[in-house]
Amino acid sequence: MTSRRTGSTPPSEVSGPPDAGAAKWFAASREWADALIARRLDEMDLGPPKLEEALRYAMTGGGKRVRPALCRLLGDALGGAEDAIEAAAFAVECIHTYSLVHDDLPSMDDDDLRRGRATVHRRFDEATAVLVGDALQALAFEALAGSGEGAALSVGALARAAGAPGMVGGQVLDLACEGRSLDAEEVEAIHRAKTAALLGVAAELGALAAPEPTRSARAGEARALGEALGMCFQAIDDVLDVTGNAATLGKTPGKDADASKGTLVAALGLDGARDAAERHAKRALDLAEDLGLGPLGAGFVSLLLSRNS
Ligand code: IPE
Ligand code: IPE
Ligand code: MG
Ligand code: MG
Ligand code: MG
Repeated sequence: MTSRRTGSTPPSEVSGPPDAGAAKWFAASREWADALIARRLDEMDLGPPKLEEALRYAMTGGGKRVRPALCRLLGDALGGAEDAIEAAAFAVECIHTYSLVHDDLPSMDDDDLRRGRATVHRRFDEATAVLVGDALQALAFEALAGSGEGAALSVGALARAAGAPGMVGGQVLDLACEGRSLDAEEVEAIHRAKTAALLGVAAELGALAAPEPTRSARAGEARALGEALGMCFQAIDDVLDVTGNAATLGKTPGKDADASKGTLVAALGLDGARDAAERHAKRALDLAEDLGLGPLGAGFVSLLLSRNS
């Protein structure tokens, strides 16, 4: 699947209705990601049957596939190699899915519903859920290690985004701050680590799939775009926990308030959290323009801002 270029003028505002071309592209990207994930899982050694069943359950049970779409968007726009874009998309979705499986554990957010069905520890058991996360992390790096010229850079970038300075560190802060009243700056520091780091690296790996000199010239800017989108994405996630319903979200709403999480809604209220999401979307829009992503880039930003699932 290749990017669609509609040739129309990019919208200068992010709050308008999402561009129909971008919505179509995102739906096609999701199908591409689903097929890619199914194929890669078939090609890899997934261990004992019990683990294989749980891995497939975690990875193929839905999900918006936002991070693979970011790999695709940047990779296509910058002329990336197809095999490197695919390895990156698979790897980032493995890390993301592992983060969700662990995030749902009783020792963390204690959730029963994910992507419209029972969480992995509910469907199987807690030990299996821990081990599914462990295995997904290893699968991610196995896939990325064989991804051609930019592999060494990509592996380092993904390790930082997934690990202590990124997602894992953010999750530690998120849990440590339960029950505390945080200001918006403190909440956003958590969002930057637990969520924006992974969307940032998704865009960066898309850029790293490009040949030199584009790869070196654009990777940093691509990461900044992904991070801005990630900040917007987590702000909206906090809003949807209050305003959404289980049927649309595929997860149980109201959990943040129940656990006294330090969310952006708790710090700023619903309107304040939406304003923050819009501010991050505007920054993402500017970066998308600098990167030459055209109407598709602008439409994708708008889709993530206006999402309801
Ligand atoms: C949920 O991510 C966790 C956050 C970082 C907010 P997504 O909303 O991308 O979850 P899926 O992959 O679509 O299920
Ligand atoms: C998600 O934060 C962050 C990661 C999974 C790394 P949340 O705990 O808000 O995600 P949901 O709402 O359970 O999807
Ligand atoms: Mg959490
Ligand atoms: Mg959670
Ligand atoms: Mg949430």
